Amino acid sequence: MTDFEVVVLAAGDGKRMRSGRPKVLQEAAGRPLLAWVVEAARAVEPAAIHVVYRGEPVRSGIEAALEPDAPSLNWVEQARPLGTGHALAQALPFVADGRGVVVLYGDVPGLEPGSLRRLQAEVGPREIALLTVSTDRPDGYGRVRRDSDGRVVGIVEHRDASPAERAIREINTGIIAAPAGPLRRWVAALSVDNAQGEYYLTDVVTMAVDEGFRVTPVAPSSPGEALGVNDRIDLEAVERALQRRRAEQLMRGGVTLRDAARVDVRGEVAAEEDVVIDVGVVLEGRVRLGRGAAIGPYTVLRDAEIGEGAQVLSHCVVDGARVASGARIGPFARLRPGTEVGEGARIGNFVEVKASRIGSGSRANHLAYVGDARVGREVNIGAGTITCNYDGVEKHRTTIEDGAFIGSGVELVAPVRVGEAAVIGAGSTVTRDAPPGQLTLSRSRQTSIARWKRRFGSG
Ligand code: UD1
Ligand code: CA
Repeated sequence: MTDFEVVVLAAGDGKRMRSGRPKVLQEAAGRPLLAWVVEAARAVEPAAIHVVYRGEPVRSGIEAALEPDAPSLNWVEQARPLGTGHALAQALPFVADGRGVVVLYGDVPGLEPGSLRRLQAEVGPREIALLTVSTDRPDGYGRVRRDSDGRVVGIVEHRDASPAERAIREINTGIIAAPAGPLRRWVAALSVDNAQGEYYLTDVVTMAVDEGFRVTPVAPSSPGEALGVNDRIDLEAVERALQRRRAEQLMRGGVTLRDAARVDVRGEVAAEEDVVIDVGVVLEGRVRLGRGAAIGPYTVLRDAEIGEGAQVLSHCVVDGARVASGARIGPFARLRPGTEVGEGARIGNFVEVKASRIGSGSRANHLAYVGDARVGREVNIGAGTITCNYDGVEKHRTTIEDGAFIGSGVELVAPVRVGEAAVIGAGSTVTRDAPPGQLTLSRSRQTSIARWKRRFGSG
């Protein structure tokens, strides 16, 4: 059926998570589980997406995690969690007759749009389809029962299964596709006659078989897609599966990962060819990496743009910052939001830069703080120099013009301006503008007391 709608079930209790947070809001690869499912559904462009949920936090949490301008969702509340069949029943009144329905579970976040498309293609007026997977670890999942001819005849939940049924390796992913009319009928006929006293959606499979429907099992492109999250151990397994997928995408795009298991992507990464990412790197939010950029070990990039051939060495935090091509950051540097580092500039160890523009070719190599500053080109900022940008009430700006040389240990008390090619002597406290081209110093005179005697101890 080409016309189809998606229903996402996301109103369960999630007791096994032992969490104050609803299960579908738990995060994997930086996004709530349910947001992954909704994204996969949107990718196949169904006529409508219905989300069965419980509690306002789920709705607002997911709305916040999704693209704001994407097609809207039909939120359907399930007042009490009486089972997956009952959950689907809440949404079916909103589904148009004559359409296919694809049911997704909010706690199965790895599903790929391709698998969803293949499943939906198998649905017909007298045909349903199930996404099933064979696994060595079927515990907890519903098992797929087949007859002696290999035809699917039903699903038995783990808790209702006999020892022989528990030995079955083929599991139900929970994802099912069926024509709306018959599905409505079957769901209305479900009972709670089972180990959990719940309306099991999975019982519709036997009903379909009894009515002579064809049941087509479909395998996902990769088994990891079927992983469901019931507890924190599952959550970690899903995290790893999603991370592996991200890592493979990066590598296919021409990125070298020193160890694909030691890179974590928790957002959107756009990387050009020949980027190299070392171990322990975490990429969050929107990250862009230009051709040939190199990211050193144990560095965190969040909402960052790293230009062509730029290097971010080990143990840096780059947050809300842009680094132009050929620049070098770190090791041990921190770039905070609103920072722009120009071409070929250098930001070295234990340097913190906040909301500042650093011109091309400029250097702050050691132990400096640059905040709310505009730094020109080819400026040198000596070790231990800081902008005193905060007077306890307000933030003030510092301007350092092209070619200025700031010695070590300088305090620039903002608002203040250092003129073009000015030199500031080491250890100065600069409270007034320093004129261009001149040496500015503010130092107390050094004295030595010749006849002074050093005292040792008291006695
Ligand atoms: C379900 C399937 C099982 C399958 C497994 C795959 C049933 C009866 N069993 O079991 O065959 O192998 O998923 O992961 O369907 N939900 C509601 N309302 C409810 C109950 C659940 O919206 O009243 C939602 C949950 O939020 C969750 C999904 O449905 O997203 C599945 O519920 P869960 O209780 O986790 O089912 P499983 O025991 O995992
Ligand atoms: Ca589950």
